[in-house]
Amino acid sequence: MSVDEKLMRDAAERGIRYRASLDGRKVGPTPEAVAAVAGFDEALSEEGCGDAETLAMLDEIGSPASVAMAGPRFFGFVIGGSLPVTVAANWLATAWDQNSVMSEITPAVAMLENVSQRWLCELFGLPQDCAASFVTGATIANFTALAAARHKVLADVGWDVEKHGLIGAPELTVIVGEEAHPTLMKSLGLLGLGRDKALRIPVDGQGRLIADALPEIGGPTIVCTQVGNINTGAFDPVGEICSAVRPAGAWVHVDGAFGLWAAAVPGMRHLVEGIGQADSWATDAHKWLNVPYDSGVAITQHGSALKAAMAITADYLITDTEHRNPSDFTPELSRRARGVDVWAALRSLGKNGVEDLVERCCSHARRFADGLRRGGYEVLNDVVLNQVLVSFGNDDTTAQVIGEIQRDGTCWCGGTVWQGRRAMRISVCNWSTTVADVDTSLDAMLACAERVKRT
Ligand SMILES: Cc1ncc(COP(=O)(O)O)c(C=O)c1O
Repeated sequence: MSVDEKLMRDAAERGIRYRASLDGRKVGPTPEAVAAVAGFDEALSEEGCGDAETLAMLDEIGSPASVAMAGPRFFGFVIGGSLPVTVAANWLATAWDQNSVMSEITPAVAMLENVSQRWLCELFGLPQDCAASFVTGATIANFTALAAARHKVLADVGWDVEKHGLIGAPELTVIVGEEAHPTLMKSLGLLGLGRDKALRIPVDGQGRLIADALPEIGGPTIVCTQVGNINTGAFDPVGEICSAVRPAGAWVHVDGAFGLWAAAVPGMRHLVEGIGQADSWATDAHKWLNVPYDSGVAITQHGSALKAAMAITADYLITDTEHRNPSDFTPELSRRARGVDVWAALRSLGKNGVEDLVERCCSHARRFADGLRRGGYEVLNDVVLNQVLVSFGNDDTTAQVIGEIQRDGTCWCGGTVWQGRRAMRISVCNWSTTVADVDTSLDAMLACAERVKRT
């Protein structure tokens, strides 16, 4: 066996061992493991340290210092895990090392993006002629879709924003709900539309934009909606919003980082009613589809606007092609073959597998909520999706219980403040979480809350 082959087999074996350890270990790293990362902080050597030793060091120091986010009892941050087939496909695609820019030189990757684009639109019930962009996550998916929106609404009044920029451009109004995710506001900032300039529309007790509070639309306008509130999981009434603003020419964008996946479940489609009327959608694959980081998707009905915002040409690039060039739709030129992981997840799960994955997580969330209520604690949100917000009493007690749960290590949950009250967030979107994981975690949560009460 060559040295290189031995190295790669060693990496695969270490990765497999790591994954097998996830179920049995505490979710957070020990303080000793965290302290040991100082071992990475060495001087850059003159001669290099050797491949095998470098890999061993990475595993021996890095693996114990990781949080078991890929494991079944990490319920922080709505981040999902990674299906084995997606990790395996990702490893293979990394071995290919394709620069996924042009279909002429990466035909397999380009085709897998084409297929994934079609399958995603079918799953979400979106028009089949939409264009998709395979990007790093929902932040950049929002940015990408909003760049297309900015192009179209200004082109409609005769302004070419790519050519002339925003200085001297016609006034563009952006409307968001009070509960828009901060990364959406960041995307607006990156686009020169201002993080604080958007008109913010009030929301209800679950964080849903109140459609009746929308102003009359006039001139170039982008309305940003959200399906899947980061705290409550609630859905803006996208259909109602589209009916109110689209006749006046506004572009409706949907930030569906995780909530868009409800559209893949026939029994949950009422939550996303009217979503197909919107102009663009952003979602994550590294959340509910459970593919490795980093993977998000922007989709729009206006492929030509997206292309106008993103495509470039250069004499050395093969941009003149009858095929779909991936980089015509993304902010980046060079990038990894991220459509491969998406394709692998979708092909292996099929429609029923995606539906089952989403439903299972929602059912786990309801089980958490029921168990916590039975334990005497208050669930602050309507559990319509995979999110549970729980208060263990006053703000101080809730903060202490969250700390105790994190120290205990059976599971991991983070905190938030929901409409003025401190709460613990439970987000369920890992493919490997079982009912037994939920029950073990519930027992640990209730025991931690009891301990805090006694002190
Ligand atoms: C609604 C919403 N939008 C955007 C994002 C940002 O996603 P990412 O971290 O993948 O960029 C999140 C993250 O949780 C989210 O929930």
